[in-house]
Amino acid sequence: MLNFDFYNPTHILFGQGRIADLNKVIPAEAHVMLLYGGGSIKQNGVFDEVVSALGTRKFTEFTGIEPNPSYETLMKAVEVVKQGGIDFLLAVGGGSVIDGTKFIAAAALFEGDDPWAILEKRGNNITQALPFGSVLTLPATGSEMNSGSVVTRKSMKAKMAFSSRYCYPKFSVLDPTKTYSLPVRQVGNGAVDAFVHVMEQYMTYPVNSPVQDRFAEGLLLTLIEEGPKALAEPENYDVRANLMWCATMALNGLIATGVPQDWATHMIGHELTALHGIDHAQTLAIILPSMLRVRKEAKRAKLLQYADRVWNLRDGDEDTRIDAAITRTQDFFEQMGVKTRLSDYALDASHISPILSALETHRMVALGEKRDVTLSISQQVLEMSL
Ligand code: NZQ
Ligand code: ZN
Repeated sequence: MLNFDFYNPTHILFGQGRIADLNKVIPAEAHVMLLYGGGSIKQNGVFDEVVSALGTRKFTEFTGIEPNPSYETLMKAVEVVKQGGIDFLLAVGGGSVIDGTKFIAAAALFEGDDPWAILEKRGNNITQALPFGSVLTLPATGSEMNSGSVVTRKSMKAKMAFSSRYCYPKFSVLDPTKTYSLPVRQVGNGAVDAFVHVMEQYMTYPVNSPVQDRFAEGLLLTLIEEGPKALAEPENYDVRANLMWCATMALNGLIATGVPQDWATHMIGHELTALHGIDHAQTLAIILPSMLRVRKEAKRAKLLQYADRVWNLRDGDEDTRIDAAITRTQDFFEQMGVKTRLSDYALDASHISPILSALETHRMVALGEKRDVTLSISQQVLEMSL
């Protein structure tokens, strides 16, 4: 096992009815900025419950944080916060709203000239952030219990990630009943995103970390079992609860302890979203199967373990088992309604070169757990994904 630091201060309030407990975890005197997206929280009752829990606290609304939150939109909120008064941010929504709120929290107190520098330095230049919490409505990203955020600067077609120990939510409320209203596309996206988060931290090379491996395999098996049930029975509380906690556990730092991490699939995926507006999880469903096929030798030992423990594949030679495990993975994404080929999203070979150029511009030329995923390997992965 590798050396590691594990730090995660986020307080989780899980279960039906927990939005009311915002009253206990937000300071009584706070002036809250209530941030949300395109309005789903107005339709499913979440907004009303949140406002009721805020009680007599003063609050200011900031609406319109879009999927793949943009720097341009978020900077408008930063300006409002800088006018003074607001001292607590409350994100109500999916990963985009929470990620956007993290950026606003850091940018509002940023001492440099242009907060875009936060993205350029991947968050290493953050020294403080406003306190914030979240009410999660879409299990997928893990943003509710991690310190990461991904922001898109539309004018530059750049989608970049940052993280900082100052950007953990103080708390997150996870009420599984609030996910009943999710469209099927977002249910599928959520399960695929969480699945690929686990894979980015698990599917590397062995370092003798049986605890982390078995945690990771437990999360993968749970997603495989519960994901299709959420599509079939949208109002099954237990299914929604298990998926919600699974997605949080997939990216809260726990399974990353002491193990190498990959993230090449995510980095290529971000370029696909920035250039073509493809949903985050859709990009992962396109890239991961090809990434595993192209990097089969480097990942051989873990692929065999995955085939055995996650997909119960024990017959046939090694290559047969590995190939079958990758096919099963791709089939699972399709079963969740997430298409797995570039051509499914109207992209062809002519689109590959601009993606490679974007990777180069963003210095994504040595990716993966061994930093050996060069542009030429990314090209092979993209060509195999057509
Ligand atoms: O905007 P509203 O109207 O709220 O609608 C949203 C949005 O259209 C809707 N939605 C959310 N909860 C709902 C609901 N609709 C009905 N009922 C509900 N309960 O779902 C749509 C998508 O929401 P979004 O927040 O964009 O989805 P997701 O949670 O998948 O977040 C994706 C973003 O997170 C980033 C992605 O890159 C992307 O920008 N990620 C963040 C990570 C992190 N912070 O650690 C890691 C991930 O790998 C990922 O990169
Ligand atoms: Zn992701």
